[in-house]
Amino acid sequence: MIKPLIWENNVLKLIDQRKLPLTEVYVDVTNLEECFDSIKDMVVRGAPLIGFTALWGMVLDIKNNPSYKFDDIKKSADYLKSARPTAVNLAYEVDRAVKLAEDSLETYEQRLRVFAQDQMDLLFEHNLAMAKIAEKDLKEKFGDKKLRLMTLCNTGALACGPMGTALGVISHLASQGKIEMVYASETRPYLQGGRLTAYELCKEKIPHKITVEGAFSYILESNLVDAIFIGADRIVKNGDTANKIGSSTLAIVAKYYGVPFYVVAPTSSFDLNSSTGDEIEIELRPEEEILNALSSRIAPKESHALNPSFDVTRAKNITGIICEKGLISAPISSENLLKIVEA
Ligand code: MRU
Repeated sequence: MIKPLIWENNVLKLIDQRKLPLTEVYVDVTNLEECFDSIKDMVVRGAPLIGFTALWGMVLDIKNNPSYKFDDIKKSADYLKSARPTAVNLAYEVDRAVKLAEDSLETYEQRLRVFAQDQMDLLFEHNLAMAKIAEKDLKEKFGDKKLRLMTLCNTGALACGPMGTALGVISHLASQGKIEMVYASETRPYLQGGRLTAYELCKEKIPHKITVEGAFSYILESNLVDAIFIGADRIVKNGDTANKIGSSTLAIVAKYYGVPFYVVAPTSSFDLNSSTGDEIEIELRPEEEILNALSSRIAPKESHALNPSFDVTRAKNITGIICEKGLISAPISSENLLKIVEA
């Protein structure tokens, strides 16, 4: 089983996701700044996992500064939240850690450790529940046919901990012998799909092909895919969903060719304080991630690049949003979303 995050002897160990699949090496994180850098530089990535990493970062921070006051905790939390702005899980976990301190600072470090572990265990349950909801819906749509599914970026154990969201659905179906083929789109900036999703699919011996984002139309028009499953970094009240750049393009192309398009995300990825996707801050990453490949410059030295990490898939282009509480089916609106999420 892949373990992207290990807490051992008071050190946070993160598998360096930029080096997979060729090298499996863990990076030691021992303080708040190293935790911030590991999130920002994408040693660790994926919405749920950056939230958990931040929680353990706060544990380290308390350990290193036992005389901390509440204001210091709040400052560290705000600092961590600024590492990557789009995935709401980061703010969600960190804000709850601050809330624990608000009640009392007594035994805070110990309570925070328990909280961090509980949150990770809970996500495993939620991911399994989501996989079963997807399985049921797919059975209603496709019967017992072996499925050809497409996914984008990495939403597996490497993005979550023990089990993935969209990739969790795929691995659950594969364990029941229900997968014929998975198309894994390669993804920017670090080929998370081509490296990480493929790595997880190989580990689980699931048949797959890596594709490029430019092939969406070719693949869907060629009728190679029965349904698409992606994860989410932030789902707002009306169902608009921020996820890895290219997700919105895929949803639009899927709608054009009539291919069901699902978002799979736990309720910790929902932001009910925002009404539409227009309110979501999209992370712009350094242009070097586009101008360079394998650490060497490939673009002319005069060129610049625009590197948005995420885009917003509009609710009207989504067939269904699956969270641990149920399936929100199209047409998705604030009303039917809240009915499930707030149940
Ligand atoms: O830039 P990344 O690799 O952190 O982006 C990850 C994604 O977009 C995932 O789809 C999302 O975080 C959900 S992970 C379960």
